[in-house]
Amino acid sequence: MTRSRAATRAAPDRPPATAGRDGPAPRAPAFAWTPQGWACGGVPVAELAGRFGTPLYCYGLERLIGNYAAVARAFPAPAVVCYSVKANPNLALLAELAWAGAGFDVVSGGELRRVLRVAGTAARTVFAGVGKTPEELRQAVDAGLLMLNVESPGELDQVLELARGATSAARVPVALRVNPDVDARTHRHVTTGRRENKFGLDRAALPAAFEALLRSAGARLAGLHAHIGSQVESARPFAEAVERLLEIVQDARRAGHAPEWVNAGGGFAVAYDGRPVPALEEYAAAILPPLRAENLKPVLEVGRAIAADAGALVTRVLYRKEHGGRRILITDAGMTDLLRPALYGAWHRIWPAHQPPDGPGPLAAYDVAGPICESSDYFAEERELPPVAAGDLLVVFDAGAYGMSMASQYNSHPRAAEVLVSEGTPRLIRRRETFEDLVRAEEDAIGG
Ligand code: LLP
Repeated sequence: MTRSRAATRAAPDRPPATAGRDGPAPRAPAFAWTPQGWACGGVPVAELAGRFGTPLYCYGLERLIGNYAAVARAFPAPAVVCYSVKANPNLALLAELAWAGAGFDVVSGGELRRVLRVAGTAARTVFAGVGKTPEELRQAVDAGLLMLNVESPGELDQVLELARGATSAARVPVALRVNPDVDARTHRHVTTGRRENKFGLDRAALPAAFEALLRSAGARLAGLHAHIGSQVESARPFAEAVERLLEIVQDARRAGHAPEWVNAGGGFAVAYDGRPVPALEEYAAAILPPLRAENLKPVLEVGRAIAADAGALVTRVLYRKEHGGRRILITDAGMTDLLRPALYGAWHRIWPAHQPPDGPGPLAAYDVAGPICESSDYFAEERELPPVAAGDLLVVFDAGAYGMSMASQYNSHPRAAEVLVSEGTPRLIRRRETFEDLVRAEEDAIGG
């Protein structure tokens, strides 16, 4: 495997101050320096690591909910802000977000069941996903969703068939996910709105979809949907996508529909490396006015901007060694815990838990590598850090989104524990997996 990851780019020489893009109402960061070291929600991560072990995902509840509230402020009612469950599906986090008033964006039957488990209703849930199975569609039709996002002609046929037999008096609210052919100018693995991407319906397929929905007694066109990508570092592609969606709304109206909703998707960026990203209000300024002018209600699907900076991965340095002219730290967490650096070359701030943000110097370049038998298992290469020794804890910041949710058990590594800290009180929200968890689904085959 080549080592061409963007993670190799020079680290900025600055402390891991939890950068923000707070807009008008600043939120306290989830992680802050204290005399006892870096702390999550006021509790030193060293204390959390001592109590719950490592690798450990730590989340600050006030930051998580503050982030949701900031999005909800930027996109006030009648907009519905749906938290993208895929970013972090932990039940405790979902329950807190439901309590705070969030809707949900789900992409599988499993995510839908998580939402139903904590919220008891799917009335503020939208269901996207390019490959829903017949079983998932049945679940979706029966769930009482805000909208079922349909992404292909074949899927629409199935939904209309299921809706025909649906017991509910209400017609199934369908949103057509269109491929707006807008370039979100983000990493190619997280861009979704180009014509060549697999997502959504091609515009050429829309007239037939409008026609089929018009004839259906069991389903109705409730809205239109587009999601252009993730970590979209400019508001302009959203304005372009909304423009395309409004053209399509006009087409739908001409065809005899009265869609109420436009779902502009998600993808608001996070300042991982400290470079500024647009304020939520800038995204809102690109999305909301054209929708208001057309009397359409917005839906947003927001994952990263709510969960990322609320969480960090805490890992212990197992070994420190030097070879090939490199200083290498081997940590107990790896790509099985946080895949983003290996998969996308993603850059996460890393800092020793016991070192203040401004020192002590001198900084030296370290490779931070995991224990997994893959040469892409690096969190960072040639990263400038203060002195680090075996046994030290490292904090990998901004890992609350697409961290634990993409974790695997590769190399038979049980997945990490997760802890949620609120007002200085930690709560274990996912216990560390055990060997028994690893083999449970296989044991029947070997008997005993
Ligand atoms: N809506 C849809 C239809 C999506 O596919 C996604 C993300 C979102 C909303 C939420 O996007 P967000 O606001 O979180 O950017 N694993 C990658 C990100 C993949 C995103 C997939 N879809 C990463 O770690 O960067």
